[in-house]
Amino acid sequence: MITTTGLTKVYRSGDREVTALDGVDLHVREGEVYGVIGQSGAGKSTLIRCLNLLERPTSGTVTVAGQDLTALAGNQKRANAALRAARSHIGMVFQHFNLLSSRTVQDNVELPLEILKVDRRERSRKALELLDLVGLADKAHAYPAQLSGGQKQRVGIARALAGDPKVLLSDEATSALDPETTRSILQLLRDLNRQLGLTIVLITHEMDVVKTICDSAALMKNGRVVEQGTVAELLATPGSELARELFPVGGEPSAEDRTVVDITFHGEAATRPVVSELARTYNVDISILGAAMDTVGGKQIGRMRIELPGLFEDNVVPIGYLREQGLQVEVVGDAETGAAGATTAPLRKEGAK
Ligand SMILES: Nc1ncnc2c1ncn2[C@@H]1O[C@H](COP(=O)(O)OP(=O)(O)OP(=O)(O)O)[C@@H](O)[C@H]1O
Ligand SMILES: [Mg+2]
Repeated sequence: MITTTGLTKVYRSGDREVTALDGVDLHVREGEVYGVIGQSGAGKSTLIRCLNLLERPTSGTVTVAGQDLTALAGNQKRANAALRAARSHIGMVFQHFNLLSSRTVQDNVELPLEILKVDRRERSRKALELLDLVGLADKAHAYPAQLSGGQKQRVGIARALAGDPKVLLSDEATSALDPETTRSILQLLRDLNRQLGLTIVLITHEMDVVKTICDSAALMKNGRVVEQGTVAELLATPGSELARELFPVGGEPSAEDRTVVDITFHGEAATRPVVSELARTYNVDISILGAAMDTVGGKQIGRMRIELPGLFEDNVVPIGYLREQGLQVEVVGDAETGAAGATTAPLRKEGAK
């Protein structure tokens, strides 16, 4: 549904240059909720603004619903009209709602329809329908100042849906809201995704948001996408930082001569009693140092950190057994050759939130 290739944005002010996006290749499938996560300054907002050409990329392409927006973005009048039309199929929701305080709720929702020159009766019908969809049918004549933060964001979402978009972009839509309101807005976005088949790209600082509603996610650092994929794919990627952040397992070994192993369970393997089978088969005492289990997209997924007595050399066979069970197994520490970078990383977990 959305593809970018080599998307680059360089901001120039005077003789200073900031490369906010550095060759981003993004792939968002139709009908999915796609989370973009990363630290402040990573380029998330720049990326989302480039997706609807609010920001003109320095180079690279943006294709939305099969249409190359970057090709439309010329200076000619006709191209601009085409770009405006394409943009009307991309809704955008903002952190601070961006409602007009002098207009009623209904008039805020009607605003994009006025710009599209939809006639008055149709505007009104559409706005009321959308307010009903977001649960605010009774607030049509209220002013933004009379609404709670969550209600304001619902108006923002209704307004974003006015042009019947195929894609909804959301830049930190819940970060000004309390946890409970955040949950209800996320639920609304999930419902809209399912009911309308809406593709949603959302930017967030919060791993919980990704965990709650995202089918796929990308991690940005210094203007680059360093990891992306479905949540299940990320969990199946050894050393994935996103997987580690989504399902953090902590726990330090109890003594020096121990082997610490991180196991990722997904699919069928998640429901089998692998750890007790391991203990029985090899007669080893296993300590669980940490675990995180959850249901993602209706499937059980989890990570567990276990400790086996003895050094890595003593545990080659049980570790091999775990791998044979179809589990993803990472030995923590530098015992295993080659994969040192990936396997030591879980122990030096920096607060990336
Ligand atoms: N209009 C601009 N002019 C110059 N530099 C900019 C502009 N907008 C963003 N930048 C720079 O581009 C980089 C990426 O900014 P961006 O706003 O995309 O980050 P972000 O990931 O959204 O951060 P945050 O999580 O704080 O919102 C930063 O270094 C920022 O200072
Ligand atoms: Mg931002």
